Amino acid sequence: MAKFLKGGAYLAAFLTFTGNAFAHGHLTEKGEQLYMQFCAECHGAEGDGNGPAAGNMSPPPANLLQAMQGKIISDEYLMWTIREGGENIHTDMPSFEKRDNISEDDAKAIVQYLWHAFK
Ligand code: HEC
Repeated sequence: MAKFLKGGAYLAAFLTFTGNAFAHGHLTEKGEQLYMQFCAECHGAEGDGNGPAAGNMSPPPANLLQAMQGKIISDEYLMWTIREGGENIHTDMPSFEKRDNISEDDAKAIVQYLWHAFK
């Protein structure tokens, strides 16, 4: 089962890299910068959810490493999560559209980095 899910994630990553506008190397670099600036404090530089600001958050910051590896998580879902955050479901995940005015392009760069770094 785990093997199957992992295969699915690779398939999703493959489709991501072949199918659309996210498929540019320079985006990954920009995405890394943005991830370290905006996401690592909670989700950790390694994506394991143990960033210095994670503290006693409930629910805790998601383990993105696991999420990217183990689930079929879509670009659309990631984009939505980054831009809208957990406001509607009352979690500590910020809306980066509201909080930092993150553009769609910046969100795309972050998504690109997530696929690249947490596989
Ligand atoms: C202030 C802390 C904080 C920051 C900063 C933060 N997050 Fe989160 N994030 C959370 C928390 C808490 C959750 C779990 C609750 C939820 O899903 O809303 C979460 C959940 C998520 C999820 C959902 C994963 C799943 O399996 O459903 C994704 C994806 C995510 N964050 C990506 C990001 C990205 C990308 C950034 C940077 C742009 C970021 N987060 C910045 C706290 C944070």
